[in-house]
Amino acid sequence: MEQERVRLERRGAVALLTMNRPDALNALNSDTLRALLDRVEALGGDRELRAVVVTGEGRAFVAGADIAEMQGFSAEQAHAFSRLGHRAFDALEALPVPTIAAVGGFALGGGCELACACDWIYASEKARFGQPEVNLGAIPGFGGTTRLVRRIGIAWAKELVLTGARIDAETAQRIGLVNRIFPHEELVERAVAAGLEIAGKGPLAVASAKRVMQEGQDADLRVANALEQNAFARSFATSDRAEGMAAFLEKRDPKFEGR
Ligand code: COA
Repeated sequence: MEQERVRLERRGAVALLTMNRPDALNALNSDTLRALLDRVEALGGDRELRAVVVTGEGRAFVAGADIAEMQGFSAEQAHAFSRLGHRAFDALEALPVPTIAAVGGFALGGGCELACACDWIYASEKARFGQPEVNLGAIPGFGGTTRLVRRIGIAWAKELVLTGARIDAETAQRIGLVNRIFPHEELVERAVAAGLEIAGKGPLAVASAKRVMQEGQDADLRVANALEQNAFARSFATSDRAEGMAAFLEKRDPKFEGR
């Protein structure tokens, strides 16, 4: 039952995770965060997986952390809740395969933070983003002061976090929070299609490039450039790299084996 709070479907090499608590607009309570962590940890061991799409059931992506659960929290309980959220989102961020958030409704508070824990965000015209915690006398607890800053820059992050304002999909795209906007009915399928496209690439190269960008973003430029040089060199020791270049020169499609 708890697991069903986050539904898992497979579309070929792509996993579709659906936040599934629509009666509460998919608000994140402890059970849901644990279900997400379980799902993500299981996906981490899946050698056939090539991409993950995260979406929400019903009219929300996720409308935030569960206010009803949080209402009675002591500072200590709030700390544990924030740690749980970070653990789940860190695990999602650390998956070796690309992760795409498909946001077709409210992505508020923890919802916006969940989307930012994915590698990028696709939205429909119905998407609404915001960090409304200050309206409740609280602050973001699952990455709204950290990942959001890195994603859209500190000035826009401050405006969102400090005003609690809600923005539409077009504004979110303009400020770099959303990569692309698709018609609502097509959103999830377009995100899955992007995942399937990635599935045709060299999986070791995709994972390596993701890791280098992720780690490089938090390192200084000299260290980040060195990380890239080492990873570039390592890619030349893979059979996939040999196959990819041979296939290009022989004018045929490559057959990548993840070796
Ligand atoms: N936590 C717990 N329950 C939530 C929730 C949240 N973050 N967001 C929505 N819900 C619940 C509502 O309490 C309501 O439950 P009910 O039917 O038992 O009364 C149900 O989801 C539907 O929400 P409702 O507010 O009736 O829908 P709406 O269309 O009028 O408004 C929102 C939608 C998203 C604008 C509004 O629900 C909202 O502001 N949610 C909180 C957003 C927020 O502050 N998130 C950050 C939390 S730190």
